[in-house]
Amino acid sequence: MASHRSPASDWYKTAFRYDYLRVYPHRNDEEAHRQVDFLVDNMDIPPSCEVLDLGCGDGRHSLELARRGYRVTGLDLSEELLERARRRTAEEGLDITFIQGDMRDPPGVSAFDLVVNFFTSFGYFQEDRENARVLDAITRSLRPGGRFLMDYLNREYVISTFVPADSRTVEGMEVEQRRWISGDPSETGGHVRINKQVRIREDGAERSYDESVRMYTLDELGEMMARAGLEIVQAYGDFDGSPVSADLPRNILVGQIGQSGEAGAFGETRQPGESRLAGESGSCADAALPDEKKAKPCP
Ligand SMILES: C[S@@+](CC[C@H](N)C(=O)[O-])C[C@H]1O[C@@H](n2cnc3c(N)ncnc32)[C@H](O)[C@@H]1O
Repeated sequence: MASHRSPASDWYKTAFRYDYLRVYPHRNDEEAHRQVDFLVDNMDIPPSCEVLDLGCGDGRHSLELARRGYRVTGLDLSEELLERARRRTAEEGLDITFIQGDMRDPPGVSAFDLVVNFFTSFGYFQEDRENARVLDAITRSLRPGGRFLMDYLNREYVISTFVPADSRTVEGMEVEQRRWISGDPSETGGHVRINKQVRIREDGAERSYDESVRMYTLDELGEMMARAGLEIVQAYGDFDGSPVSADLPRNILVGQIGQSGEAGAFGETRQPGESRLAGESGSCADAALPDEKKAKPCP
């Protein structure tokens, strides 16, 4: 482990370009379609709600949400990925607002009913306080009663299935990936990251980029969210709806702004059928409330 050089702290500014799309070809529209199905089935968000896709990349989820009638804003740092998102949006005649910006700075305050954050678009910053700012941005961008879905890695699974190196050929380019874990996962509160160097050889030339993601345990993330005023209501281990488990790859966290600004900690017991949704917004945000408490749907 010690022989690896540390990725630059701003690795995320250069890692997400066209090569990223080619290295992860299975992170495509079909997958986004299934994941949006999951969101619709499990969150009961009425179409026409305002959704913020935080770290939207090339817009695969933004487009799918817009196709289903949601009013979508996608925010991302990568101008290259946004360019593709805008082009595809225009080709389909959809109406989506794409903003180039940093996920620590919300594009609107109390402006959204739902924030989505798909495919490990969290934990990129070196400092925990900077990662916490992303959660604050989610809270600030949500309307009262607003909800979120975060699709994050499962640290236990990453560690138990860890493969230090592999290589494959994709679209004529040779892709070699070297991975290493930094920090001590057995130390409570330790700063643990999964790091990757991606080396690409194509047409006789070589280039590389790095990735480095802070691996929070589910408890750590729940505590960070609670501090940001976010409450996890449900945690899934995969997009088939299975509950979180050590042998499933994801931590898919579904939740809401904590009631009256006081977020409950993850794991807090709740009576069956009892809603934790604030539901004071008169908007889509309270969609999971019992019918008699629901306000009018989004205009
Ligand atoms: C793993 S990709 C996921 C993209 C998209 N959610 C998806 O599932 O296809 C992470 C995305 O986060 C974006 N990103 C990285 N750092 C960012 C930052 N500081 N602010 C906003 N976006 C950022 C990247 O440009 C990239 O598009």
